[in-house]
Amino acid sequence: MNIMDVIRLRRSIKPESMKADPVARDLLDQLFEAANWAPSHGRTEPWRFVVFTDDARLDLARVLASAEVGSSPVSETDPTYLKLRQKMTNAPVVIAIICAPSPNPKIEPHEELASVAMAVQNMHLCARALGLGGFWSSGKKAFHPAVASFLEVAPPAHCLGFFYVGWPAIPWPKGERGSVTHKVTWRNRTELSI
Ligand SMILES: Cc1cc2nc3c(=O)[nH]c(=O)nc-3n(C[C@H](O)[C@H](O)[C@H](O)COP(=O)(O)O)c2cc1C
Repeated sequence: MNIMDVIRLRRSIKPESMKADPVARDLLDQLFEAANWAPSHGRTEPWRFVVFTDDARLDLARVLASAEVGSSPVSETDPTYLKLRQKMTNAPVVIAIICAPSPNPKIEPHEELASVAMAVQNMHLCARALGLGGFWSSGKKAFHPAVASFLEVAPPAHCLGFFYVGWPAIPWPKGERGSVTHKVTWRNRTELSI
């Protein structure tokens, strides 16, 4: 696949559309290697990841459910927990996406955010090239202090959501985008070449 194909064919595939089959460690390592090549101002490399597999996904579902219902610990029969447990265990791998900004005052927080987003895009493109499904899910729960504490993330570092990885159980979805024509403004001048 050439790079434009990988870019165009990268799709968000939700956890419920993934197989339960495990993803080999060397493939996951390739995703992280791809992430690690993202650019960052001042080479701050602010991306961090916490990887949940097997029953560790249940711990994450419990914390997210507690954050949502506002009670800790959450009951094992709570519908919010059961729904999150289903979501977490639909994907064999759930990766917490963390931005750990540099203390360098010359680097703006939004630059660090941009770098982490590029790292996730690299990971998602690499997943596409390997035939793996990926899905970035954010939502308010990801920003809850209890979730940060569980992830051992202290401000100014923060969680930006979760990236689900698994083998697709559905035909590869078609993507759609509006035309780029109206998103690009060209300003051409010839003065300097006269
Ligand atoms: C920062 C970010 C957060 C996202 N959070 C969610 C989410 O919480 N729920 C959701 O359904 N999709 C989420 N998505 C995925 C988008 O819905 C998806 O990228 C969009 O529909 C375009 O589909 P595609 O990725 O297949 O091109 C998120 C994407 C990004 C970049």
